[in-house]
Amino acid sequence: MAEPWTPESWRSKTLHQVPTYPDAARLAGAEETLRTFPPLVFAGEARRLKASLARVADGRAFLLQGGDCAESFAEFRANNIRDTFRVMLQMAVVLTYGAAVPVVKVGRMAGQFAKPRSADTETIDGITLPSYRGDIINGIDFTPDSRIPDPERMVRAYNQSAATLNLLRAFAQGGYADLHKVHQWTLGCVTGSLQGKLYEDLCNRLSETLSFMEACGMTSETTPQIRETEFFTSHEALLLPYEEALTRVDSTTGDWYDCSAHMLWIGERTRQLDAGHVEFLRGVRNPIGFKAGPGMSGDDLLRLIDALNPDNEPGRLTIITRMGAEKIGESLPGLVRAAAREGRSVVWSCDPMHANTVKAAGGFKTREFDRILAEVRAFFAVHKAEGSHAGGVHFEMTGQDVTECVGGTKAVTEARLGDRYHTHCDPRLNATQALELAFLVADQLKADRQGDQATARVAAR
Ligand code: PEP
Ligand code: CO
Repeated sequence: MAEPWTPESWRSKTLHQVPTYPDAARLAGAEETLRTFPPLVFAGEARRLKASLARVADGRAFLLQGGDCAESFAEFRANNIRDTFRVMLQMAVVLTYGAAVPVVKVGRMAGQFAKPRSADTETIDGITLPSYRGDIINGIDFTPDSRIPDPERMVRAYNQSAATLNLLRAFAQGGYADLHKVHQWTLGCVTGSLQGKLYEDLCNRLSETLSFMEACGMTSETTPQIRETEFFTSHEALLLPYEEALTRVDSTTGDWYDCSAHMLWIGERTRQLDAGHVEFLRGVRNPIGFKAGPGMSGDDLLRLIDALNPDNEPGRLTIITRMGAEKIGESLPGLVRAAAREGRSVVWSCDPMHANTVKAAGGFKTREFDRILAEVRAFFAVHKAEGSHAGGVHFEMTGQDVTECVGGTKAVTEARLGDRYHTHCDPRLNATQALELAFLVADQLKADRQGDQATARVAAR
């Protein structure tokens, strides 16, 4: 770790989950092409996100991070991007208005293409092929050709990310996200559900508040916070040749930033202390994160924190715990205590998806919505008990009315999973389920705040 960092120093380390490209010259050509392309984000934006996350770390804001498990070339449509963005906006309004807390919005979008896999190969009807690793690496079709890693896919993923980001910026700043439009963000599929009704009620109250503010002289024209929002992008920094090619020196500070997204994280399968992904991430100045599963010890956690955030910079590091509803109660407290004991500033975020995945009867990978909610509740309970901040949630979601996770008030049943199962990797929450999750989180946050206020009142007596 003591050796100097460079954008390519990861190359001399052990690598996990990075594909072997059959044609080294084509790979080098694609990397060179990417190196000549403009950055997708600016260092200053990444610093702004870091400052927002520093507020999350000390309990003054909440992180909402979500989007596709894997973006795909096939599903690349303006409507899909808009609908995911809309659900994020709705969730953020539920939290901001419902729980009176500022929300930092970060999409798993505009770059979330590469997937770690638990098995290198996949076997169907006696035929074994390399696993699908996300559209930035190979194709999902089960044919030998499609499964060969193709470096040109990186260039296509870059272009798709650029177009996605362009649309997201337009939505966030061009008037679509104006709070006067809250009613219009409702997706058809949500109407008629309990969540649709709750959201409608909340919109009505918000509209009254906005009318009152308007009477006081605060309108969309005078107050940009009403008219526009800040929306950041993130993805798993898995495919290091791609990340390296987009890593640039910021001319204003001289520091290195990975300009493929505002925030990058490393997954449960690539966070080995002495391996390539940790090496790469430690040197870029973006806000970063890592996933923490139930097998992680307090010592593992501290070593990784020291490697990735040696200066204990607030907002730099988000720990995304993904323990599973059964294990979180026993596994999370030790990690929280270890960080607190050593005075480490981190954002604690809850990914209630990845350790609650099961195989349903029809062979579909699914997640029970009740387990997802149970992990979120337990996450809040642990942080309350430990006196730490439940900083955020990290989830896989889409604005489309898919049937991928079972349960929810507008229940998706196991038998109906096949109806609209479109994900390219893991099962996602649909719009109604995502909204239901937001209401649960808002209730938890409200309860925590009321608890804090009551404690403060007692202390003040
Ligand atoms: C993911 O976030 O899509 C993922 C693969 O997560 P994890 O590393 O937690 O398994
Ligand atoms: Co996933």
